[in-house]
Amino acid sequence: MEQQKLLDLLKDMSLDEKINQLFQGGAGFYAEGSIATGPASEQGFSEKTIREAGSVLSVVGAKTIKEIQKNHIENHPHHIPLVFMADIINGYKTIFPIPLAQGAAFNPKVAYTGAEVAAKESSAAGIHVTFSPMVDLVRDARWGRVMESTGEDPYLNSVYAKALVEGYQGDDPKKSGKLGACVKHFAGYGAPTGGRDYNNVELSERTLRDDYLPAYEAAIKAGALLVMTSFNTLNRIPSTANKWLMRQVLREEMGFEGTVISDWAAIEEIKYHGLCEDRKGAAKLAIEAGTDIDMMTTCYSNYLKELIESGEVSEELLDEAVLRVLELKNKLGLFENPYKDADEDAEKTVLLCEEHRKKAKEAAKETFVLLENNGILPLKKEEKVAFIGPFTEEKNIIGAWSIFGEAKDAVSVKEGVEAYKVNALFAKGCDSIDPGKKVYGMNLPYDCKRTKEEADAMIEEAVETALKADKVVMCIGEHMAQTGEAASRGDITIPKQQKKLLKAVARVNKNIIVVLFNGRPLDIRKIKELAKAILVVWMPGSEGGNAITEVLYGETAPSGRLPMSFPYSVGQVPVFYGEFNTGRKMDDSNPDNKFQSRYIDIPNKPLYTFGYGLSYTKFTYSEVNLSRGLLEEGGELIASVIVRNTGKRRGAEVVQMYIRDDCGSVARPVRELKGFEKIWLEPGEEKEVSFSITEEILKFHDINMNYTAEKGSFTVFIGSDSDTNNQKKFELI
Ligand code: BGC
Repeated sequence: MEQQKLLDLLKDMSLDEKINQLFQGGAGFYAEGSIATGPASEQGFSEKTIREAGSVLSVVGAKTIKEIQKNHIENHPHHIPLVFMADIINGYKTIFPIPLAQGAAFNPKVAYTGAEVAAKESSAAGIHVTFSPMVDLVRDARWGRVMESTGEDPYLNSVYAKALVEGYQGDDPKKSGKLGACVKHFAGYGAPTGGRDYNNVELSERTLRDDYLPAYEAAIKAGALLVMTSFNTLNRIPSTANKWLMRQVLREEMGFEGTVISDWAAIEEIKYHGLCEDRKGAAKLAIEAGTDIDMMTTCYSNYLKELIESGEVSEELLDEAVLRVLELKNKLGLFENPYKDADEDAEKTVLLCEEHRKKAKEAAKETFVLLENNGILPLKKEEKVAFIGPFTEEKNIIGAWSIFGEAKDAVSVKEGVEAYKVNALFAKGCDSIDPGKKVYGMNLPYDCKRTKEEADAMIEEAVETALKADKVVMCIGEHMAQTGEAASRGDITIPKQQKKLLKAVARVNKNIIVVLFNGRPLDIRKIKELAKAILVVWMPGSEGGNAITEVLYGETAPSGRLPMSFPYSVGQVPVFYGEFNTGRKMDDSNPDNKFQSRYIDIPNKPLYTFGYGLSYTKFTYSEVNLSRGLLEEGGELIASVIVRNTGKRRGAEVVQMYIRDDCGSVARPVRELKGFEKIWLEPGEEKEVSFSITEEILKFHDINMNYTAEKGSFTVFIGSDSDTNNQKKFELI
């Protein structure tokens, strides 16, 4: 539809109609068996509001959506179609590894493909917009939602943000098989104080701008149609009411022209944050801040009319928001084709099809991170291997946010190994949840009803199995429901019964390989002591068991690297590589010096740093070569290394370039990732890898908050992780 027609339509709409266009209702109003991702609300949504609503969340299925849409259009005064939105995160039915795992691939193509598959499947099921990508920078492993992000680094997250948006939207979200992307949660939601979900956020403006905003901006530049506000406060103002954030930063500075949606009930929550006395006040603050859509509350639909009629809110503000909703529908082509790709036949052929499963398996294999290996891996087909632990059978390995995916469609480790036909034994050993404990998933509680006695008997059986094997693969970790929204943890170790199982097995068989399932970095000190190899597999998705089997048996080498540092213990959290020197930097050669920036009982360094990960082979690096020692304004410098596979197997190396600004007008991080490339090398093969360095990538917010690069000395590091010492200096003149 032409813009003028949208404006004419807007002019023709009644005040009520316009207000209701900003309302997004949950599936419960429209379809049975719906999925709720926020607290249930009993606020009296009127029938008229629902009849005239602008969008719906969490309804899926071509048949249902077509019926709802048809009925809605027929009954709507201007026959305006609904937009159907849902959280399609790491897949719809074919589930890819969780986003944090995708970050570990250090290969944005993995995310692009995952998004492409998710878009294809969910658009066939009638969805128009996904609430993804979530690009919140995450540095606190206690926070359950770190699994939804690609990690602790602004550059890595930005590269992925772009790939995800492009994967969902293609070159035009209107096209068949594509979705509109909604980047979230704007802004800073990934830094809740104490790692507790929904908690307030304290960030300096410089940290916000230098570290947290770049990934949202990358998604916006890639064309994301929507932005979702975050639950948290920034500078003590909830984002949904934050005029500076939404109008100045997002719209003026970043040039965002799309639609802003509140997070679930976030408009009403402005009241609970204490910025207004009632929901009417919340509606006023939110519309003034530029929040267009009200997800799941009646703040707008019940109070905007009063506010406009009394002159407290101008009708122009309302019109601005409504126009953005109409524009969204137009960008999705819904005025011409309100059903878009919803198609029952396509659902049958596309969902969980062979091609998608194959892509999910290839993706998963790229995300596993090998933390330790004394040579015990890869396994050999003829060895007798015992697969022990709750995650041998667990099919809930699709990640907390796969709300439409089903565990039954996932391949467990046991199924993967059995199909591979090797000499294997199996014993569950214990449940993934401790006996008598319960954890709440997004929609279901999971519990373990076994008594302690029954649980201990299972350990005995596992020990017997371990005695019969040459090697033991321990499949252990945290339950999927211990991660995700509203799943912050104060203890980031694996559950107690699993620790007990590991110790009991390790007593009788020393050849332990741990395959760790997790949605966050865990404290794995004890595991490290007992295992000869550790493979982090995150929540690997529908094809998890097959992918794990192929990597364990060496069909492919593991090639993931940590997208978040694994802490030594929870006491270090948040711990991340891009920290600052402080005035009293820890001098490792002088540990007895008390007055240094340090803990007296634990090390400063994480157990495994960002970017770390092994392969089944070894690589060597040449010195860093710089094309020139000086970089002038507008110029370019090439930094390169030659990487060689010196081992006996094919493998991948993630070559990483970090840069330190040696002296700035404000303290600068000790190093920052500025480039990476994953390369596969045959034994004995070598390759030159080069990175371009321009003034642009050296920019930051200086003492006057100008975004600029300051002249002077810089150090460039190129190596296999964020601890590399392979370095050279250059000067920006
Ligand atoms: C989450 C969002 C999600 C929304 C809709 C909220 O609770 O914070 O990330 O998109 O629910 O399901």
